[in-house]
Amino acid sequence: MIVLGCTAGTGLAEGVARELGSRYASVDYRIFPDGESYLKVPSEVKGDDVLIVQSMNSPQDKRFFEMLEAIDGANNAGAAHVYALIPYLAYARQDKSFAEGEPISAKIVLDHLRYAGVEKLAVVNPHKSKELDYFRGSTLSIDAMPYVASRAIEEIENPFILAPDNGAAEMAKGVAEAHSLDWGTIDKERSRSDGSIKIKEAPNMALKGRNVLIIDDMISSGGTVIQAAKFAFGAGAASVRVAAIHLLLAGNALGAMKDAGIESILGANSIEEEIDGCKIIDISGFIARALSAFV
Ligand code: R5P
Repeated sequence: MIVLGCTAGTGLAEGVARELGSRYASVDYRIFPDGESYLKVPSEVKGDDVLIVQSMNSPQDKRFFEMLEAIDGANNAGAAHVYALIPYLAYARQDKSFAEGEPISAKIVLDHLRYAGVEKLAVVNPHKSKELDYFRGSTLSIDAMPYVASRAIEEIENPFILAPDNGAAEMAKGVAEAHSLDWGTIDKERSRSDGSIKIKEAPNMALKGRNVLIIDDMISSGGTVIQAAKFAFGAGAASVRVAAIHLLLAGNALGAMKDAGIESILGANSIEEEIDGCKIIDISGFIARALSAFV
């Protein structure tokens, strides 16, 4: 099998190839003067199975289209089977029509990957595993949080694991139980008009003097973890740190999190290999082990 790095997430792609003992190849890629993407898959894929790796962070639409180009290119070049690994899946949060007239964006993305010619699809921490059901083929949802969180926990004395919303509760519970740690969850409410976040429900938690580790699948504006950090400090926490998988860090997210007193931010290399001010954990070995029985 050949691991084919597309236009984003190539560091992780190379790591996965190394760990799987597979050949690594990259696409020939450039941007035309008018902004369109040109992409060519190397002819060495002919007759071989190909695992295309593409992360869909910003600019999401372009990354998505380039992925479709790579899939079509690999099929045109005569690949035996085309599989895909998506370290970060964009549009995953719009997994249903929340209001009349809204599209199911996650379904659009997954439908088109299949239509373009992907047979099997693996995704690292999709927002919800269930949404992969929109893909009409075999899927694998890889939860890298146990691996990433255990690296964060190594550096904190007796942390309290805090889920910043109900969506993260299962993940936080799993991490806490695996390490015999205390945990709790708060719930948030996001305004559908301006995106602002406030805490909807926060049961009493004994956080006084505790080192809190907030766990979430992704950080975009930082609003979710900032609200959780304010809650933790308000309840007397001694320190607050964050571990997430996808560090999207839109706008001034990083600065705002530091201003909120968050001591450290740890994430996976599903987006970038290095981010100033954050600690990035290489998950390529973990992903390769999860993939080995799938592709
Ligand atoms: C949403 O439910 C996700 O799990 C994250 O909590 C959310 O997307 C983070 O976004 P932000 O950083 O903008 O609050």
